[in-house]
Amino acid sequence: MRFRCFWPGLSLGALLLGAHALSYAQTRLSGDHFLSPQLQAMQQDQDVNPVTLWVEKGQTLWRNNCQRCHQAPETLSRAAAEHPRLVSRNNHARLVNLEDQINSCRQRIGQQPKGLEDDDTLSLSALLHSVGKGEKINPRPPAESVGVQRWQDELGQGAALYATRLGRLNLACTHCHDGKVGAQLRAEVVSPGHPTGFPIYRLNWQTMGSIDRRLRACYSGVQATLPAPGSPALRQLELFLKVRASGMPLDGPAIRR
Ligand code: HEC
Ligand code: HEC
Repeated sequence: MRFRCFWPGLSLGALLLGAHALSYAQTRLSGDHFLSPQLQAMQQDQDVNPVTLWVEKGQTLWRNNCQRCHQAPETLSRAAAEHPRLVSRNNHARLVNLEDQINSCRQRIGQQPKGLEDDDTLSLSALLHSVGKGEKINPRPPAESVGVQRWQDELGQGAALYATRLGRLNLACTHCHDGKVGAQLRAEVVSPGHPTGFPIYRLNWQTMGSIDRRLRACYSGVQATLPAPGSPALRQLELFLKVRASGMPLDGPAIRR
């Protein structure tokens, strides 16, 4: 796909440099591959990698709150690779991602997390992603046959959203994450958008953030109306991204620019 300027008056050509980016298209490279050498060095050094502190906090929270029902976190090492899941409660089926599940368990024990980007929720997510490191991404339809069609529908909606033009820039996810992989966009290098490194510690945010927040940042990047945190569209997109990345290993929580 050749890049065209869809928004007259805004020189996207100037934003999306790197005309030889297309050779990367359709790659299965994780976002780590696109980090600058400095960030790669930071990521490899446990002493300076901010993710370490989040995982350690997650371990303490786990011991105090989760262990009595779940034993060691390693017993849930597949959880990060298998979410989002289609879950039925009270005759109502919906996609639940890992942070949703953590929050529903936290509510079960009387806690009141402040949304998906709550520090404790993200610490526990970081812990479960770190014990899931190396696990192959493997989202699956529910075991009960009634849920399979619904799961397929959710996946289909995610695939459609991924290809839908959005915002004032009038670009779809696929235009960047398939068509512009390797290109420089402002200060970033566009990756294929695989969900292997979440939750991410983004220097730009100075904190950890979930995939939900990253996807909203992409909506903001194309100047589209942001979906609410936890909205069905974000879960459908996450499911589609997980299916698209099926078989890729989780990298554990990663640093991003
Ligand atoms: C205008 C180009 C553009 C569009 C359109 C866009 N993104 Fe992104 N996206 C980026 C950039 C730049 C980054 C940060 C660098 C990177 O990791 O690719 C990013 C990051 C991501 C990441 C994190 C990858 C990682 O390893 O940290 C995911 C996942 C993602 N985008 C998914 C999406 C989805 C889903 C859509 C559609 C709703 C979308 N993006 C639309 C440019 C875009
Ligand atoms: C009182 C028992 C109990 C406690 C305490 C508890 N959970 Fe759960 N957890 C469950 C049950 C039951 C399920 C099965 C799904 C459901 O009913 O939500 C579950 C499912 C999960 C799953 C999905 C596992 C999978 O892959 O199938 C995760 C992740 C999880 N819990 C995380 C946590 C975290 C993090 C904590 C601590 C904040 C926690 N749980 C505390 C009972 C508990």
